[in-house]
Amino acid sequence: MCENEQEVWSNRPIGVFDSGVGGLTVAREIMRQLPNERIVYFGDTARVPYGNKSRETIVKFSRQIVRFLQTQKVKAIVVACNSASAYALEVLEQEVDIPIIGVIKSGARTAIQVTRNGKIGVIATEATIGSGIYKRYIQENNAEATVLGKACPLFVPLVEEGLWEDPVTDEIAKRYLTELIDVGIDTLILGCTHYPMIRSTVGRIMGSDVTLVNPAYETAHELKRLLQETGLESSHRPGLGTELYRFFVSDAADKFQKFANSILTYGILSAKVINIEAY
Ligand code: DGL
Repeated sequence: MCENEQEVWSNRPIGVFDSGVGGLTVAREIMRQLPNERIVYFGDTARVPYGNKSRETIVKFSRQIVRFLQTQKVKAIVVACNSASAYALEVLEQEVDIPIIGVIKSGARTAIQVTRNGKIGVIATEATIGSGIYKRYIQENNAEATVLGKACPLFVPLVEEGLWEDPVTDEIAKRYLTELIDVGIDTLILGCTHYPMIRSTVGRIMGSDVTLVNPAYETAHELKRLLQETGLESSHRPGLGTELYRFFVSDAADKFQKFANSILTYGILSAKVINIEAY
């Protein structure tokens, strides 16, 4: 690639996608750690949740989204959804010729670094827990580690309803988390991109001896490393008149926008609805 071409490529945006709003927790971290990067975000709000769907369906949806993001001329893609990272990332890696990363390896790596007693818990959707992928990654790097996964399917609707601090969420969290407390885990991976929104509830129930791992932080860090290695890092903040962040959804743009504005410090101007089935 000649210098000019490299410059054009490095000015392209990063594609970030999720089944809906959860991936905004990852986008937020990318905005924080990589302020020069433009982002095109897609939330599949018409087809959320992915967490109770089959591998075939999640792979099909993810392929459509990647095709859409490629029409937006992205230079790299972040699969900001654990369920899609669990089932579709390995397939997508074979099919796209730009860097693509998910959120699971990052979370697993951090958990291995921070655990003191080798007992790691993972809370996530049924799809992510069913895939066994966190356990596989962790035990590939630390065969001694014990990994206990717990599907928490009610957390996603509670977060989407805005019940981040609520007695109902507390009650359900206690039911889900008791068995993890009983086995004495000292590290808990928030293995679903919605869960950082209820981090304080989960933290309060687990107690201060348990370290919570939010894969978003490490994912943004890994993205930064990858862009540097491939020479794709944007060296300057895009000029005035360039839209830094663009948001697309497959349904209910107003609801998405309201939610996004409650978690992003950067107020989103608008979200555009596209027909993802056409890709
Ligand atoms: N964002 C999804 C994940 O991280 C959770 C929501 C869903 O089930 O689609 O797995």
